[in-house]
Amino acid sequence: MGDRHMSAEDRRPAAPRECDDLTYVVTTSRRYDPRLAELAMGWAERLDARFVPRAERSLQALCGEEGVDAVLTVTAERVSLIIPAEDVKYFFHPSMARVRIRNLIEGMGDPMVTAMGLAEGDRVLDCTLGRATDATVASWVVGEEGRVVGYEAHPLVAALTIDGLEHYEIAGRGVQEAMRRIDAREGDCARVLPTLETGSFDVVYFDPFFEHALERSQAMRPLRRIGVHDRIVTDTFAQARRVARRCVVIKQGREERFADLPGVEDVVAGGGSRVEYVLLSAAKRRDV
Ligand SMILES: C[S@@+](CC[C@H](N)C(=O)[O-])C[C@H]1O[C@@H](n2cnc3c(N)ncnc32)[C@H](O)[C@@H]1O
Repeated sequence: MGDRHMSAEDRRPAAPRECDDLTYVVTTSRRYDPRLAELAMGWAERLDARFVPRAERSLQALCGEEGVDAVLTVTAERVSLIIPAEDVKYFFHPSMARVRIRNLIEGMGDPMVTAMGLAEGDRVLDCTLGRATDATVASWVVGEEGRVVGYEAHPLVAALTIDGLEHYEIAGRGVQEAMRRIDAREGDCARVLPTLETGSFDVVYFDPFFEHALERSQAMRPLRRIGVHDRIVTDTFAQARRVARRCVVIKQGREERFADLPGVEDVVAGGGSRVEYVLLSAAKRRDV
């Protein structure tokens, strides 16, 4: 990789950042803006990635010249991960959270909230945070007296979600406040769950990727490309049952059910015909 685009600001001569198999560098929009360059350098530092000046290059050219697959662009509008060769652009947004919250306000309910039996004051642990759409809905329901903690295993997705939950501005009754209240962290739930106290959350929630075509919506495509796809193993679900005081809820595709789930208590229909929520009972002390 040539370094002819590096400047004194480019403090990281190390290899580009690798996230699973995806390599990326950090840059700004085409037009030079010192404020954006400073912000972009901050992102690079936080992500332990390399900042490169944009120097009016197209993103395709920049990837070729820097020898990476993707670019994290910091612009006045947003921070996005772009994979030019695959036409993928990922950035934080709360997706359907506002619509789902409006449905709740209008008394139409929400399948996830029903499956969780969620009420004001509940403590929820989201083990697959993603863009925190589900966590935002949960946070709205549990309110100020409740608590939502979310873990996201992919460092870049986690960083964008943590930042988005802190800064994204959105209208809608209580939606933005619900986002701000979420305690979002980077972490693999398989490692985190064993460290948590027994019965420390009312509900523990999982929404892993479905691998089959049913969930391959365009809206999900960028997160699907970047996020972690490793299967959640039975031991992790067993730990979740220990940490849950009331239940564990797992979103799954009807054509892609988990095998060998411990303590299945019920299966509740999801919003469409292809999704359902599996409820696992909280583990009795002697089970753990
Ligand atoms: C289908 S998405 C979840 C979407 C999320 N429910 C939302 O509302 O935005 C799955 C997310 O879980 C993350 N993930 C997968 N395995 C994980 C693990 N073991 N621990 C934490 N996060 C994980 C993926 O990187 C991805 O962002």
